[in-house]
Amino acid sequence: MTGVPIAALDGRTALVTGAASGIGAAIALAYAEAGARLCLADRTGEPVLDAVRKRCAAFGHEVVTVQADVSSEPEVERLFGAARVMLGAVDVVVNNAGILTESPVLDMPTALFDEMLSINLRSVFLCSRAALPPMLAAGFGRIINIASQVGQRGGAGLAHYAAAKAGVIGFTKSLAREVGGTGVTANCIAPGPINTPLGGTLSDEWTRTLMAELPLKRSGEPHEVAPTAVLLASEPGGNLYTGQTLGPNSGHVMP
Ligand SMILES: NC(=O)c1ccc[n+]([C@@H]2O[C@H](COP(=O)([O-])OP(=O)(O)OC[C@H]3O[C@@H](n4cnc5c(N)ncnc54)[C@H](O)[C@@H]3O)[C@@H](O)[C@H]2O)c1
Repeated sequence: MTGVPIAALDGRTALVTGAASGIGAAIALAYAEAGARLCLADRTGEPVLDAVRKRCAAFGHEVVTVQADVSSEPEVERLFGAARVMLGAVDVVVNNAGILTESPVLDMPTALFDEMLSINLRSVFLCSRAALPPMLAAGFGRIINIASQVGQRGGAGLAHYAAAKAGVIGFTKSLAREVGGTGVTANCIAPGPINTPLGGTLSDEWTRTLMAELPLKRSGEPHEVAPTAVLLASEPGGNLYTGQTLGPNSGHVMP
């Protein structure tokens, strides 16, 4: 059990990117428990993605998977086309897929910077644009973008990651203003350090410094982030949030 309100998303359909691992898999499970039908997308395919699908399907609602690279425009078009054929409308999109690499600006290869922006920011634009037309036509939609506290406070060795995540926050605020009054909302979740394979790619020195700075003195677990994504997707709980950045971050950023 994920501890989320039962039936909070009954009758809703959600697409979660980066659903094969970590925070995305936890959000998918929480959405399944809350009653949503799901499309799970990831560039990692079988058997990993299918294992998450089976765990979600155990809650009794339809779950489909699509292997896709969300930084690629044709792949995103294919993903949303497939989701609509298999599930009908997509009411909720969680743009969660992401990578983390580490390099000082001085030594950073241009390709490393471009890859970061492409996967962690361009994908959010591509998936949001693909999701919008049917949401606007239906008068309901929830776009939830997974940013990071690093996008709010910066991080040495993480300038490219911080730039992408700050970009996600700025993109989300702008989209929220553009679609205001249509029934569509756009929000960010900016987690602090969460125990996932991605978090494990940071150097020991970075991790030690980070833990000492956290008011809660501990990192989080993916299932402690997922209920925030349920809240933002649900009615009436999510109704009044748009353009916001919610921070399950162990107190590291206090805006
Ligand atoms: N773990 C943390 O400490 C932390 C903190 C703040 C924000 N985040 C953000 O949360 C999100 C999820 O991270 P996580 O920690 O669960 O990482 P993770 O590595 O466990 O999962 C990320 C998933 O995204 C997928 N993915 C990567 N690039 C992709 C692409 N181009 N197309 C499709 N799928 C792709 C991966 O295959 C993987 O399954 C990321 O956006 C990350 O930046 C993580």
